[in-house]
Amino acid sequence: PLQCCISPSILSADFVNLEAELARISNADAVHVDVMDNHFVPNLTIGLPVVERIQAVSPVPLDAHLMIAEVDRWAPQYADAGLDSVTFHVEASNAPIKLARELRARGAKAGMALRPATPVEPYLDMLTELDMLLIMTVEPGFGGQAFIDVMLPKIRRARAAVEGSGANLAIQVDGGITEETITRAAEAGANIFVAGSAVYGKPSPAEAIDALRAKGQL
Ligand code: DX5
Ligand code: ZN
Repeated sequence: PLQCCISPSILSADFVNLEAELARISNADAVHVDVMDNHFVPNLTIGLPVVERIQAVSPVPLDAHLMIAEVDRWAPQYADAGLDSVTFHVEASNAPIKLARELRARGAKAGMALRPATPVEPYLDMLTELDMLLIMTVEPGFGGQAFIDVMLPKIRRARAAVEGSGANLAIQVDGGITEETITRAAEAGANIFVAGSAVYGKPSPAEAIDALRAKGQL
């Protein structure tokens, strides 16, 4: 069985109390940090200076999800900040293989994200260049949206390709993950689950993480 990892998204946390919000998810496998620039997505969050401070105080490894234009220029700086993994959107990169190599050379795991309408097939030959493939299960930009069920076959095809390639990469899903949808995503082959509202929207985020992990571990 695949190792089931839960990565709560701080997009649903209280941005004025980030250090305390991080302490509430210390049983998570990682913390998912959504960086948005109001160009690649129609929303704006935080940038490198704030992410560097989160990195300094977080009890769990950082998993950055960069929803930004000109990502080839920015992503390496997040790797230099010591983050565990840095995920860029393939739609925003001019040279995804080069960028993935740069991230790894700087000591970060290399993640590549696909918007819901971006097919996985053109990228199957570069799986060995990646540590993680992020299949978006909502349109990126906002928390609290509904899981897009028609992404399940894409997750299944990606998992089959990963098994066939000999590459050892994780498949992450992000958007609309709840105690109900997580099992479907896990059955399709995902093994890292981002959850924003399903963690921070609950009275006890730590208990929500344990409940999600139980449902996501097949
Ligand atoms: C959306 C972000 C997600 C978001 C998920 O663009 O990438 O990480 O926080 O939020 P939920 O889990 O509420 O769908
Ligand atoms: Zn995200």
